[in-house]
Amino acid sequence: MNLLITGGAGFIGSHVVRLFVEAYPGYNIFNLDALTYAGNLQNLVDVESRENYTFLRGDITDAAFLEEIFSEHRFEAVIHLAAESHVDRSIAGPMAFVQTNVMGTVNLLEACRRHWAGDYEGKLFYHVSTDEVYGSLGTDGLFTESTAYDPRSPYSASKAASDHFVRAWHHTYGLPVKLSNCSNNYGPNHFPEKLIPLAIHNIKSVKPVPVYGKGENVRDWLYVKDHARAIDCIFHRGKLGETYNVGGVNEWRNIDLIELLCDVMDEKLGRQPGESRKLITFVKDRAGHDARYAIDSSKLMDELGWEPSVTFEEGLRLTVDWYLANEDWLAEVTSGHYRDYYREQYEKR
Ligand code: NAD
Ligand code: TYD
Repeated sequence: MNLLITGGAGFIGSHVVRLFVEAYPGYNIFNLDALTYAGNLQNLVDVESRENYTFLRGDITDAAFLEEIFSEHRFEAVIHLAAESHVDRSIAGPMAFVQTNVMGTVNLLEACRRHWAGDYEGKLFYHVSTDEVYGSLGTDGLFTESTAYDPRSPYSASKAASDHFVRAWHHTYGLPVKLSNCSNNYGPNHFPEKLIPLAIHNIKSVKPVPVYGKGENVRDWLYVKDHARAIDCIFHRGKLGETYNVGGVNEWRNIDLIELLCDVMDEKLGRQPGESRKLITFVKDRAGHDARYAIDSSKLMDELGWEPSVTFEEGLRLTVDWYLANEDWLAEVTSGHYRDYYREQYEKR
């Protein structure tokens, strides 16, 4: 099988590429990535010389480029992860999200439709999406696959639009598709603009740890390798035309999560218990900050037998260990443009 994975140099994509390259030596895996600020080939050094792996640098907003690579490599399946993925950046500059997440996805759907030309036997377009498309929950209830879409940030609106286009291509043209909507991921290779790696970086550097508002917003957290395992499961065994919610059954208020992380870091860095908690700093809230995300993954668990392999406490320790053992990775991604981003986002607020 010639399998195209988009966004494979990013956080989740790199774990998906590694899993597929290692588990399926018979597949030719092509990783298409534009290498934006979030894409980093360092994430894949351990698989870059494998025979069944090829990196293609390019942009999904460039339809002519997609035409070229689809003609050359005759992809039979696509796992689509390339996206602009950070809510705060979508608030500061929404157009890149419209371009990549909406236009880029439609370009890919069109490339598949043209090249598969109605011969859909053995073909698949798998779209990786987020639970944020469902909007914000009150204190109880869970998102299910039939929850009505109610996106409220430019990021989630662009992902919701992309999901609608994928389903429209299925219903209108019969394109074989699958979708999954996952909760917040964490783990190795996570870019330190997101809460957990940003907090690890700041705690390590003894800098303030910014918590938006009162820290009462709730997220469900899933270890990234468990998301990659879910994608493997759905790709191979999920039903065509279906959507699967993926989550960790693991809800945390931001402030409770950050306090736990501070305590783990104190232990790992040999600091006095409670020392890192002093770094917690409440800052101005995010505009339109969704209160709570929580996800019901029972369809994926019951139908496909997937379940998370690590508890949150285990996953968090693995994550902290990875960041402490990979100081060069962290130093590299937090140099250059990251400093400008950090200044704009946190120091000028
Ligand atoms: P990321 O920002 O770490 O990586 C995105 C990757 O896409 C990068 O390698 C980047 O270079 C590439 N990319 C961006 N624009 C591109 C373009 N125009 N053409 C080609 N490549 C481009 O994102 P992530 O956190 O790994 O998320 C991957 C996917 O999973 C996204 O679709 C996201 O919406 C979805 N998702 C993420 C989470 C999460 O918690 N991070 C949760 C659920 C779903
Ligand atoms: P984030 O990692 O940006 O993911 P998302 O917004 O997609 O859920 O943020 C997770 C939660 O942490 C969210 O409620 C916003 C909050 N947050 C902070 O409190 N401080 C920060 O510096 C960041 C980046 C996020």
